[in-house]
Amino acid sequence: MNEVAYKLSPAAQGNPMETTVTRSTRSMPQSGMPATAIREHLQQLDLPEPYAHFARAFRGPQDVQEIGKWAYDQFMSENGFFSMYLPYMQTIEQEVIAMGVSLLHPQATSTGNFTSGGTESNFSGMHAARNWARVHKPKVKKPNVVAPLTIHPSFQKAARYLDVEVITTDLDANGRGIAANIAAAINDNTVMLAASAPSWHFANIDPIPEIAALAVQHGLWMHVDGCVGGYVNPFLEQLGEKLTPWDFRVPGVMSISADLHKFGYCPKPASTIYWREAALQEYHYVAVDDPFLGQYKLAGFSGSRSAGPIFAAWSVFNYLGMDGYLRLTRRLLDLKKRLTEEISAIEGLKVWQIDVMPMHFHSERAPTAAVYQGLFDKGWLMLGLVKPEAITICVDPALTDDDVTLFLKDLREVTERILAGGDAKAGTIRYG
Ligand SMILES: Cc1ncc(COP(=O)(O)O)c(C=O)c1O
Repeated sequence: MNEVAYKLSPAAQGNPMETTVTRSTRSMPQSGMPATAIREHLQQLDLPEPYAHFARAFRGPQDVQEIGKWAYDQFMSENGFFSMYLPYMQTIEQEVIAMGVSLLHPQATSTGNFTSGGTESNFSGMHAARNWARVHKPKVKKPNVVAPLTIHPSFQKAARYLDVEVITTDLDANGRGIAANIAAAINDNTVMLAASAPSWHFANIDPIPEIAALAVQHGLWMHVDGCVGGYVNPFLEQLGEKLTPWDFRVPGVMSISADLHKFGYCPKPASTIYWREAALQEYHYVAVDDPFLGQYKLAGFSGSRSAGPIFAAWSVFNYLGMDGYLRLTRRLLDLKKRLTEEISAIEGLKVWQIDVMPMHFHSERAPTAAVYQGLFDKGWLMLGLVKPEAITICVDPALTDDDVTLFLKDLREVTERILAGGDAKAGTIRYG
């Protein structure tokens, strides 16, 4: 047996989030390790719940996770590459798309594609818009996209791949885009407008009807980033929450990204990009004619991909149905209410007003970065905002009442200790 020594870093004893392993060798072992030894080593790295909870978001309760995992495992080795050709796989993928788009006030031919995540879905929207503009706006040589400042960084990333410029515009006091600012930024090279429903940063929905009206007026592609909201907004609306209209019911909205692996509660990596009309989907594809292999025309970035996430999404959708999603959305609202009330009762902590999720709060007395570090030292791995400083809570229905009780106890202790003059080392707040 190959002797490979791993040891946990000393920091791990203080904070499980700082767990690292050092390996004595970096070369391929000559002979394999027993499966039990592999399991033992890797189990040491399995971060404890509930401390890792927010880093693992977004998940449904245990039963939802189990059906997703089961289907994932069964179909993990199937190649999703073949969903274009193999009828059973095609049917499963198309049913996921049909079920998903049915939530978005679809038009007669609205359709979509399965992708690996929000980043790829947003990329796909921008890529299609750029290709569409090459046909419909041939005079544009240096295309740009105009969007509120809160457009997710995956947009800037896509723009760099695609050599498109992103022009960002200022927000209102609640962190929403302002249509007049978008209007003022549109120029002869603009091909697309984009907005969020909601943004990650402030969890608020941009004024999508007004921005989409500008797109119609100027003949532009309008994309809605519904990565966070795509699979929760429809249920919030059914439960009576008054959200700004954000989906295909809004004239001019041509594409919507919606993440299955956020509030769809499907195992990662899984997202969807939806097209208002089937004709728009054609701008998504890149068809290559290979001299030996023939036509190579696949959805999205990937070639070979696991069919696991597609079958898992199909299973979670069918397992939950509308009733299940409504039940989990009610739970989400209960968790939001409890967390809002109890965090607000801690001295100096302010919970932000949000339309959807995730939750954010900051501290007006103890420095927010010190509260963040204090939580980290207790083992909680949190995301946050750098400016203005805030701590993000990725609430999902996998969070139990006991998890919330422990989190609130730790948050109260940390904040009170800092306010009492205790250690106030500021941490580095991170989103990604
Ligand atoms: C609004 C929004 N868009 C896009 C993304 C990117 O999603 P992913 O991390 O799945 O690529 C995120 C991720 O948090 C998001 O919040």
